[in-house]
Amino acid sequence: MAALEAAGIAPARPEAEWLLADVLGVGRFDIYLALDRELSPAKADAYERAVARRTAGEPLQQIVGWESFCGLRIRVTPDVLVPRPETESLVEWALARLPRGPRRVVDVGTGSGCIAAAIAHARPDVSVLAAELSPAAARVARENIAALGFAARVRVVVADVLTAVAPDGVDVVVANPPYLPDAMLPALPREIRNWEPRGAVLAGADGLRVLARIVADAARVLVRDGSLLVETAGDAQVDAVAAMFERAGYAEVAIRADLTGTRRFVAGRRGV
Ligand SMILES: C[S@@+](CC[C@H](N)C(=O)[O-])C[C@H]1O[C@@H](n2cnc3c(N)ncnc32)[C@H](O)[C@@H]1O
Repeated sequence: MAALEAAGIAPARPEAEWLLADVLGVGRFDIYLALDRELSPAKADAYERAVARRTAGEPLQQIVGWESFCGLRIRVTPDVLVPRPETESLVEWALARLPRGPRRVVDVGTGSGCIAAAIAHARPDVSVLAAELSPAAARVARENIAALGFAARVRVVVADVLTAVAPDGVDVVVANPPYLPDAMLPALPREIRNWEPRGAVLAGADGLRVLARIVADAARVLVRDGSLLVETAGDAQVDAVAAMFERAGYAEVAIRADLTGTRRFVAGRRGV
């Protein structure tokens, strides 16, 4: 743990616990049941290697290979963004806007497939089309969807925003696209800057390159009263995106905060 602290990783204890649990192949808190046992030399080496990777800046989730999202275990590789806890609030909001009965959802920029998987898990009556520009990320999404048993209802396609979606009755379009301005790259934490895919994080000079295209095109595929919900960078961007929704003719445009109180999500309904 001292090595993690010295590398500026805070809080270091949970990360040390996760790394050790991964090496031992047990749950995080099960490591305390084994405190009186000595680590075998092979396990001690593996733990040291994992700590070295973490102190060099590699995200914990890439080292252990997974992250929990809406209660699901999502496999993570360097090809996908690590699912973030704030995005769980976007899923909750999308679910609240999905009427009962068989419905269709499109998840734009699915990455690991976490949003698509969480929606399929919560709503067995829903089918999801998960679109992803990066073929490498789409492969990870497909693996996650298959491993979780949702392959019959979630289709992952390699596609640019909504270009693969026909205008035939989507109830909800949900997206957590890249939204940071390119110039922010040097200021990002090294875990993101050096280890997460640039195409998952950066979106042009103003960060709006992908969001603007989703807002412009989603009404084409949505049923009347269907919802578009997106995650943004928060702060000024959330207002800029809400204004974009208004200009594009969405009704009931609303903003919601994430768990930290940052106004982060925008939703609207397709008008006439
Ligand atoms: C911020 S990540 C989100 C991943 C996942 N949905 C999540 O919430 O963790 C954005 C994803 O959008 C993908 N992406 C970027 N531009 C895209 C585009 N034009 N069309 C489709 N997907 C795109 C990226 O490759 C990346 O996987």
